[in-house]
Amino acid sequence: MKKIMIPAFLILAMSFVQFTFSQEKPNPYKYEIHKKVVCKNGAVASANALASEAGVNSLKQGGNAVDAAIATQLALAVVFPQAGNIGGGGFMIIHLKNGKNIAIDFREVAPGEASRDMYLDLNGNAQTHLSQDGHLAAGVPGSVAGIFAAMKYAKLPFKKLIKPAIDFAEKGFAISALEASLNNQTKNQFIKFNTTVPIFVKNDLWKEGDTLIQKDLANSLKRIRDYGEKGFYEGETAQLIVDEMKRGKGIITNNDLTNYKAIIRQPLVFDYEGSKVVTMPLSSSGGIILEQMMKMSSFENIDKMQFETPQSAQLMTEIERRAFADRAKYLGDPDFVKVPVATLVSDSYLKERLKDYEPGKAGNSKDIKEGVIPEESKETTHFDVIDKDGNAVSETTTLNGWFGCKTVVAGAGFLLNNEMDDFSVKPGVPNMFGAVGADANAIAPHKRMLSSMTPTIVLKNNKPWIIVGTPGGTTIPTSVYQTLVDLIDFHMSPEDAVDKPKFHHQWLPDVIIVEQSFDKNVLEALKKMGYAITMTKGIGRTEVIMVRHDGSIIGVGDKRGDDSVAGY
Ligand code: DON
Repeated sequence: MKKIMIPAFLILAMSFVQFTFSQEKPNPYKYEIHKKVVCKNGAVASANALASEAGVNSLKQGGNAVDAAIATQLALAVVFPQAGNIGGGGFMIIHLKNGKNIAIDFREVAPGEASRDMYLDLNGNAQTHLSQDGHLAAGVPGSVAGIFAAMKYAKLPFKKLIKPAIDFAEKGFAISALEASLNNQTKNQFIKFNTTVPIFVKNDLWKEGDTLIQKDLANSLKRIRDYGEKGFYEGETAQLIVDEMKRGKGIITNNDLTNYKAIIRQPLVFDYEGSKVVTMPLSSSGGIILEQMMKMSSFENIDKMQFETPQSAQLMTEIERRAFADRAKYLGDPDFVKVPVATLVSDSYLKERLKDYEPGKAGNSKDIKEGVIPEESKETTHFDVIDKDGNAVSETTTLNGWFGCKTVVAGAGFLLNNEMDDFSVKPGVPNMFGAVGADANAIAPHKRMLSSMTPTIVLKNNKPWIIVGTPGGTTIPTSVYQTLVDLIDFHMSPEDAVDKPKFHHQWLPDVIIVEQSFDKNVLEALKKMGYAITMTKGIGRTEVIMVRHDGSIIGVGDKRGDDSVAGY
């Protein structure tokens, strides 16, 4: 037998290659979830371990936080198909090391053929099943346009950033127990709302560790890799979307797709106890109501209160009630309606809003409505990124409900959103999150439906300090609010701020929704004050990255899901 001699330098080089390979390629069939990381150079916290690893690997390859965000977002579209997406939309907040803050609005828009009463029957009754499931529920997707708007701030070539996503789609990955159970639970809906049987449907049941291969999705991603934005909004993928619409009585057209534009906006920035909060402006309501809530808290000296006491829980509930009453009345797409933003967040207005707040006594949403404005001149996913230079990204993206409208574009392998349900389909009729709205959020062609997504970066001395966000529909702004108060006012650790119980009030329905682990004595005290309470299993999946005094980075993924952090 011939002996093959391998020169020593090659062995070294091979082991190095292997080392970098194993470092840079998580094994998609066997990976671990990390709830916490402490590191120096950079971190990603997202809903899925493979996606967080994909993001961190792009940092290790010389990318910045924007590169990592794009790699993470694309990977989530494959490994977290219930919410990660290319058929949905979302919002991205970027802080660049040069001090610049940028907001990218890649929210879906209503198709050109949409109309105000499109979900009402002949008697004027709301048909919310049509705004929630199937082809008609889909808004024009914004995610791919959002990614290319962000590419302006990235360093690495796009094909590098999309490669992990293509690999996960083409070669498959092992699904978690949670994902297996979601696929199984949704099986009948997948069958009902599709014109062909999607890949998420299996004859027998899915189980933990099964491999999910998404060949059609891999091909859609390759078209984006090869043709950029046009690889989605024009050509084969666009045609597959339009054909799918025609088969299922949907209304998205080629024109809707070619005309979709992500919008770069000025982020909403406000001061809070010596730090600067950078968050999302309209078309998300999240930033405005976060500013309202945090300012009202500071007027009432919440820092003197403590976490999970009757005092703090009541104050925050009353603050949330007032912010959500304003949301329902005044907020909508600023390109379509005039929104009195400056007044809504002004100190004088917010002090007036709290005038009828009585400690120890429950308010009620019959008497407490939106404020008076004087004449003026179930699913989403969030991730955080920071890099070694101090660039940071906070991004929330969604299909709206789990698996969106449940319709997969046949031949293209991706799910479409059911974001049309975030419009107010009829004044006063609650959407799937129980939120009500009025004229400001009525449906109109090409209009953005009002969101609650609240990707947020808090700066201290103009450098990223806290990066935070969560899914959860209307509970998003209240979870971000509570997490920030926990960190800034109650000085809690990031793990506690993420994992300890959350609660939520959204004006209507007039109840406090509380996580089951919430302190029972506090609940009793709140009931005595006159509050109605509803228990819920879990609120949101908050991710936090925080930079500590010594410059080290701590990242925390929510215990409520498969959320996982990676760092180096
Ligand atoms: O934009 C919004 O506010 C909703 N479409 C978000 C949906 C969501 O967070 C679902 N997640 N649980």
